[in-house]
Order: sequence, then C-alpha cells, then structure tokens
Amino acid sequence: MRNENSILEVENLTKKFGGLVAIDNLSFSVQRGEILGIIGPNGAGKTTLINVISGLYFPTTGRILFEGKDITNLKSHQRCRLGISRTFQLVRPIKEFTILENVMVSAIFGKNLKLTKAEERAIEICEFVGLKRLKIPIDSATVLELKKMEMARALASDPKIVFLDEIMAGLSVDETNEMIDVVLKMNEHGKTIVVVEHVMSVIRRLTHRVIVLDRGKMIAEGSYEDVSHQPAVISAYLGEEE
Ligand SMILES: Nc1ncnc2c1ncn2[C@@H]1O[C@H](COP(=O)(O)OP(=O)(O)O)[C@@H](O)[C@H]1O
Ligand SMILES: [Mg+2]
Repeated sequence: MRNENSILEVENLTKKFGGLVAIDNLSFSVQRGEILGIIGPNGAGKTTLINVISGLYFPTTGRILFEGKDITNLKSHQRCRLGISRTFQLVRPIKEFTILENVMVSAIFGKNLKLTKAEERAIEICEFVGLKRLKIPIDSATVLELKKMEMARALASDPKIVFLDEIMAGLSVDETNEMIDVVLKMNEHGKTIVVVEHVMSVIRRLTHRVIVLDRGKMIAEGSYEDVSHQPAVISAYLGEEE
C-alpha cells in the first residue's frame, strides 16, 4: 500500500473498548494533497478513528505511519508537532477567553510560539477562516463563529494534515457553503484534509475520494459517485433509520 505520494498509512488498525470493537482491522492510506471523505452510519467508528490517529487513544493493535514514520506510540502533542491536527465534534473552547485568545492558546501549544508571535499568527488564521469578531467572548459567538474558531485552532499548529469531524453539523445551507469554501481554500493552500461528515451533499462537493465505514470496517472505497450507489453502502445507511 505504501507509495511515494501517501502522507498517512493506517495498517490493520483495531480499537476495542472492552468487548466492543470500534475499529476492526482497518487499513487505508491518505494521499498527500487530497480531500478524503470518511462516511458511515452513527457508531461506525469515524470519531474513534480520528481519536486514534491524533493520539487521543492508543490502538489495541495495528500501526499508523505518518510520512513513512511509525507514530503509533507517540503522544498527541508529538503528533501535532509532526503536522497532524484535528477538530473536535463537540467544540470545547475555553469559555473565559475571547475567540482570538482561544486560537492563540492553540498557536502557543501547537507551534511553541511566544505570546506576541502567537497573537500575530492567531489573527492571520482567523482572517483566513473568515472570522471578523475576534475580541468577543465565547458565549456571544454564533454557531458558525464557533465552528470557524474550531477550524482556526486546528490550523494554528500549521499542520500538514487536518481531520475535520462533522464541522457542518448545526449550520444553515448558506453557512455550510461558507465552510465548504474555507475547507477548499485550506486544501488549495496545501493542506491534506480528511473530512468526516454526515451531510452527503458536502461530501459530494468536497471530496476526491471516499471511504465508507460500518461497524469499524471499510465496506466501500472510491469516488462519491461510485460508493453512493453501492448496495452495501445504501443498506448501512438504511439500517440507521430503523
Ligand atoms: N471512549 C469510549 N468508550 C467506550 N466506547 C466508545 C468510546 N468512544 C466510542 N465508543 C464506541 O465506539 C463506537 C464507535 O463510536 P464513534 O467512533 O463515536 O462513531 P461515529 O463517530 O462513527 O458515530 C460506538 O459504539 C461508541 O459507543
Ligand atoms: Mg462521530
């Protein structure tokens, strides 16, 4: 599976929580510069996969290689310094801080910057994601502003690969379109992106390739057009509605 252009490889990855197998012997790779979509019904293991790749959890078995280097046993801050970053499905800002200060914290920890440099960098990134009200407290921020802040925090460490976990949830159609533009702009600026998303129109518009997970296993892989017509994929989603 290893080829020159892959930035991340996941090999035979398994993550168990007690008796529950959340990720089941999963192997795939991410190509440098691509936007890869990961879809699948609720509980398929999408967030767990991001947690294991970003170092929040260690896998039960299997390996993760980033730029050819085995990172399976590295801590999350070490993976962050190497260039792996992620957003959280549940945005967890520091409530006492402004939007800008929250992004600054990520710049300080993610990139080891001193205060003044961290502020310069945070302002630059907030501008990049289209945040305008930088000095407002968290509790007066809109959902869109919080989502953009979450993106800005993920970008603060200047990552090579960014995992986005359902960043469109709770947004209106117009807001979703705005976020899609931000993600495309990130990709144009050289970021490899892995996007976990429930909204299929977002996956269709954003991704070059899609992996479908169901109960921790890959059940399909290909372009959105290819996978969305496969019976196994349709039945996995139909099962969810029951
Ligand atoms: N920290 C945890 N402890 C125990 N079970 C977990 C934990 N995190 C996730 N799970 C379980 O793993 C499975 C996959 O969850 P998750 O990765 O959140 O799915 P998805 O993001 O695809 O909806 C679910 O059955 C979930 O309950
Ligand atoms: Mg999830």
